[in-house]
Amino acid sequence: MSRCILSKLHTRRFGRSLLIVDQCLSTNTLAAQLADTGAPEGLTVLAKKQHHGRGRHGRAWQSPEGGLWLSIVLRPLRTFSPLQCLPAIGAVSIALAANAIHRTKASVRWPNDVILNGRKFAGTLAELKSAGQEPQHVILGMGINTNFPASALIDVIPPPTTLSDALGHEIDENEILGNVLYNLEQMYQQLSAGNHSGILKLLIETDSTAGRRLRINLEHESLTGMFERYLTLSRVRILDDQNNQRDIDTNAVVSVEFPPDGNR
Ligand code: BTN
Repeated sequence: MSRCILSKLHTRRFGRSLLIVDQCLSTNTLAAQLADTGAPEGLTVLAKKQHHGRGRHGRAWQSPEGGLWLSIVLRPLRTFSPLQCLPAIGAVSIALAANAIHRTKASVRWPNDVILNGRKFAGTLAELKSAGQEPQHVILGMGINTNFPASALIDVIPPPTTLSDALGHEIDENEILGNVLYNLEQMYQQLSAGNHSGILKLLIETDSTAGRRLRINLEHESLTGMFERYLTLSRVRILDDQNNQRDIDTNAVVSVEFPPDGNR
């Protein structure tokens, strides 16, 4: 894979240092270990299979062969809050890549899900290591169900999909990877420069929740209401069923569902 991916890479840094392993527990763990010993920003770790892939909020992420399981080492400056924005930016990168290459209508269900035909096929996980106030590194993990049947994923509720299932054919993983890394690098550069407006526009363009009734599961409460709008890259406004305006930090969200009585 490594030699083929080079022809699909159009980034300056992301993926230029690339470690591909047959298997590991979690690429996020492996990338964090490498970052601890000085790996440069942009180092990308790719595994054909993970034995203990992690999702958000302590959930497991099943990672059989045939998927794209990767983690990127980031070394953000203190001047922006990377952890808040990175899961969404990762998700937008994936949706844009699938749509550009396969003319799909993949979209983002904040904070970090990428969905196609109403089913999740990818997710992102950002993990920060800091020393005091100083961020040491952020590992941005991305899991993309590419070339395997969704039936290989056991007991995942709601049922997920894979790109090959949704499209009816195998896809070129190098092409997806190259495109995702390019999108991500572009947005990360903007974010680092403090320019959020272009990214917010892309987030709104790829969003799947606009004008929809949602069930939002937080750590200690669930609420249902209509999505009104993004306030920032990581804050959304909801009009709940009691007509209260609720501004929610998307990083506090455990999951978002479209209830069956949704209006779309
Ligand atoms: C989620 O949707 O809950 C996030 C899923 C993130 C999965 C990816 S796969 C590569 C990287 N390594 C991990 O252990 N997790 C992320």
